Amino acid sequence: AFEIALARSAVTLQVPAGKSILQVLRENGIKMASSCGQGACGTCKVRVLEGTPDHQDVYLNASEKASNATIMTCVSRAKTDRLILDL
Ligand code: FES
Repeated sequence: AFEIALARSAVTLQVPAGKSILQVLRENGIKMASSCGQGACGTCKVRVLEGTPDHQDVYLNASEKASNATIMTCVSRAKTDRLILDL
């Protein structure tokens, strides 16, 4: 499990094993667009302000992944205990 902090709404949520960031956001009433659900289309992309994503998608290229600037919330997770998202 890891934590996501939503910078603009001052909310912190737990993402347990077996649930995606996208699922947790929606369960907490945050409207999120998504399409493929498999890390391929880029629709669910969110900017990362702090923390290191564990990229599981096939949408970002290697340098975009290395920059840790965005995350595909349908599949990717966190390498750090906490991610701060631009939401
Ligand atoms: Fe397509 Fe997440 S919904 S990359």
